[in-house]
Amino acid sequence: MKSVCLSCQESSEIDLPWNYHPRCSRNLFGSPRPPRVPFGTVDVVAEAQKMVGKMSISGVQPKLSVIHDHKRHELAVAERGGLYILKPPTERFESLPENENLCMNIAAAYGIEVPPHGLLPLSDGTLAYVVKRFDRLEDGSKLQQEDFQQLLQTDDKYDGSYEKIANFLKTQSSVPGLDLLRLFERALLFYALANGDAHLKNFSLVKKEEVGYQLSPAYDVLNSRLVLPEEKEDMCLSVGGKRNRLTQKDFLRLSEHFGLTRKQVDTSLTRLNELKSAAERMIEESLLKVSLKKRFLELFRERMARIL
Ligand SMILES: Nc1ncnc2c1ncn2[C@@H]1O[C@H](COP(=O)(O)OP(=O)(O)OP(=O)(O)O)[C@@H](O)[C@H]1O
Ligand SMILES: [Mg+2]
Ligand SMILES: [Zn+2]
Repeated sequence: MKSVCLSCQESSEIDLPWNYHPRCSRNLFGSPRPPRVPFGTVDVVAEAQKMVGKMSISGVQPKLSVIHDHKRHELAVAERGGLYILKPPTERFESLPENENLCMNIAAAYGIEVPPHGLLPLSDGTLAYVVKRFDRLEDGSKLQQEDFQQLLQTDDKYDGSYEKIANFLKTQSSVPGLDLLRLFERALLFYALANGDAHLKNFSLVKKEEVGYQLSPAYDVLNSRLVLPEEKEDMCLSVGGKRNRLTQKDFLRLSEHFGLTRKQVDTSLTRLNELKSAAERMIEESLLKVSLKKRFLELFRERMARIL
């Protein structure tokens, strides 16, 4: 029987025990077989409530900080020193875990750095999204991380633009040229994915030893329009003062503001064009239900046509 890996979501001709490629499980969990989750959605929501305020990973959706207990081969809740973030499904928004895993896989296919991530069944059989923390080393030590709401010192995470993030990177990143290109490609892809909730707290700098501060891997990437059809704006951070009806021109102007070369921009756009069919296949083969896949494909094609 054909089975699908819950991390990379590629289908495999051979049966995948636990629905994970051993290499995908090793990459995410450090073992060829994914850990069991000894709790269900209800427990996650209750535990998440208790954790509010104690965790460094706040955010709107309920989530848990967990570790992989290798001896018991289970995930365990960890108030401190968690190496993973677990986001359960919610009643309010349909299929968020499947949506986020898919978008992160498409981002990876475009060459955007993302932390290891995957879906994992909870004890009640529902799938949760699990992502490895990029601000923690295996020994539990912490890397400095600052999000752009803190860095730009604003009270409103929606009060920002790609230009403002770029201006900060120009002077504060230890690898400004690389980070500006990374930011440009994220702006393009987030637009194409209808990731309309990419606000200032969803961009961070992380301090890598010896290298210094640089843009962190991407996180919280999902198609918000699928779950919020009434969403007013296509992008919540503006591009050239615009949040809607963006076209390739707006992105070209953005690239000029960033100081990218025409060659860099051409390469980013060519790679985006090459991603198109692969991304469409990933959406079609995802675990979203048929109506959501259909809507995702429509949105994706419409947005890609505007920027390519
Ligand atoms: N892989 C990761 N490694 C380290 N920190 C992370 C990671 N993913 C998320 N975070 C941190 O945790 C916070 C909350 O995570 P995330 O943005 O995924 O949750 P959310 O509740 O969906 O957020 P939002 O408030 O944007 O809806 C992020 O703002 C970021 O600071
Ligand atoms: Mg977030
Ligand atoms: Zn896999």
